Amino acid sequence: MKIIAPSILSADFSNLSQQIKAVELGGAGLIHCDVMDGHFVPNITFGPLIVNAAKKVSSVPLDVHLMIENPDNYIEDFVKAGADYLTVHQEAAIHLNRTISLIKDLGCKAGVSINPSTPVEALSEILPFVDLVLIMSVNPGFGGQKFIPQTLTKVEKLFNLRKYNGYNFLIEIDGGVSSSNIKEISKSGVDIFVAGSAVFNADNITEKVEELKNLVSGE
Ligand code: DX5
Ligand code: ZN
Repeated sequence: MKIIAPSILSADFSNLSQQIKAVELGGAGLIHCDVMDGHFVPNITFGPLIVNAAKKVSSVPLDVHLMIENPDNYIEDFVKAGADYLTVHQEAAIHLNRTISLIKDLGCKAGVSINPSTPVEALSEILPFVDLVLIMSVNPGFGGQKFIPQTLTKVEKLFNLRKYNGYNFLIEIDGGVSSSNIKEISKSGVDIFVAGSAVFNADNITEKVEELKNLVSGE
């Protein structure tokens, strides 16, 4: 099953409820929330308050992507705010196994993400424990950046590791996904496609989600 996860980073926050409804109408399977702290990445976005606001109006699960230092300190807040999937960065978690356990013990699905320059091998010891692996296909921090095609090699590696070891995690890609590249990205084995600017800058948000979904539906 291929899932489109629109990132509200590019949404109109004065109209968040309507924008979430519009992507859901187009068939969005998850709502992706990009949390940035101005330390791990050079940008600040929002915290649990907005995640909770999204939760109240969303009828699909929330996919919360933490681009923050010291994630352990905030995990409980984000789970309470309504995260269904909570993803931390391998580069930001010093005791990654503890962090993933903490998320799962709170009844939430746990994800791990890696930046474009971090190899898949850095995840080898955590793969049996996670529900989701998020491959960053841009350097995290901003929407609207250009897709880095080399990151697809990492998706392929993960896909094979999952197959040969019988792991269960979903593979997600985040950054620079659009109508022009989503089909090719899908072929590498991605399950979840995050799309921010491609969706929310479109003239018709609902139709754009539908279009992205149709492009990968046969894959
Ligand atoms: C980047 C974020 C992405 C971003 C994707 O740091 O993690 O989720 O919003 O935006 P687009 O689809 O515009 O590249
Ligand atoms: Zn993201």
